[in-house]
Amino acid sequence: MKLRLTNLIINNQRYKQLVSQLETLENGRIFCGHDMEHFLSVARIAVILCEENDIKADRDIIYSAALLHDIGRTEEYINGTPHDKASAEIADKILDEIECPEEKKMEIIDLILSHRCPDGEKSALAKVFYTADKRSRMCFCCKAQNECNWPEYKKNNKIGV
Ligand SMILES: [Fe+2]
Repeated sequence: MKLRLTNLIINNQRYKQLVSQLETLENGRIFCGHDMEHFLSVARIAVILCEENDIKADRDIIYSAALLHDIGRTEEYINGTPHDKASAEIADKILDEIECPEEKKMEIIDLILSHRCPDGEKSALAKVFYTADKRSRMCFCCKAQNECNWPEYKKNNKIGV
């Protein structure tokens, strides 16, 4: 199966519980949510950007990283741990539980750890993943635009740029 890890993640008990906990914690949140719709948007946009830019990438790694990259938001809401770090720690556990090969685990965790930062040394895939995370948002029609603390360069104010 092409998306083997991806499908193991969505059926992992720890993952399912965290997605559900995140939904509860974000109930009533006026800003962007971190739900399955966001996770899959990031994955699909990253796949499109890889194709457009001739970047060879394993779709299973892209989808797995997209499913896991914001899962640590639970920790951020509860105890203030930055969610990239918390997501990487949770991903490490879940990926071990689904017996993800070590090399793939490292690639997935690398994408998670660099998804918030536009700078630094990044692989072509990590750049695409960062961009896909921002492009997945619909800032141009967001009702909380004025209260949002995202800097302008992160906001997605156009479609298809
Ligand atoms: Fe995200």
